Amino acid sequence: MSDQELRVSKIRSGTVIDHVPGGQALRVLAILGIDGTGGETVSVAMNVPSDAMGAKDIVKVEDRELSQAEVDVISLIAPEATINIVRDFDVIEKNRVVRPDSVVGVLQCPNANCITTEREPVQSEFTVLSEGVRCVYCDTLLREDIAEHIG
Ligand code: CTP
Ligand code: ZN
Repeated sequence: MSDQELRVSKIRSGTVIDHVPGGQALRVLAILGIDGTGGETVSVAMNVPSDAMGAKDIVKVEDRELSQAEVDVISLIAPEATINIVRDFDVIEKNRVVRPDSVVGVLQCPNANCITTEREPVQSEFTVLSEGVRCVYCDTLLREDIAEHIG
């Protein structure tokens, strides 16, 4: 896309999450715990035409880098996403997300009887499958609603 066509300004520093499937940007923001009340400067573009993806979303979060746990969960809803780290307007690092085999301690099991939701020192653990993520302890399957179960 040429500069004339840029829909959202470039950022000076922060993280650009690019190649998010069209319509998933708000889920990415939920994963990052961003609802606007924290005062972060965030730009979002949704359903931007993309040669590779048809339509894609882009999320730009200024002055923030993402944790590996956050990137792991983003990979579950945006398997093709690229995480671009920007400093002084340059992309200094670009990484494709990698779907992890499991996610530990990030998601909360919705099953009230699951051992991970009792007052036990047991961290949540979900196995990553193609159809979603499954609780290792009680087999509960989370599908598209993964973002609603961030711990
Ligand atoms: N970007 C930004 N601010 C900057 C630099 C880049 O918002 N100062 C954004 C770009 O708009 C783009 C993403 O970060 O959405 C990646 O930038 P870049 O690597 O320059 O773009 P491409 O080469 O098109 O990326 P890719 O090859 O990953 O598609
Ligand atoms: Zn469980």
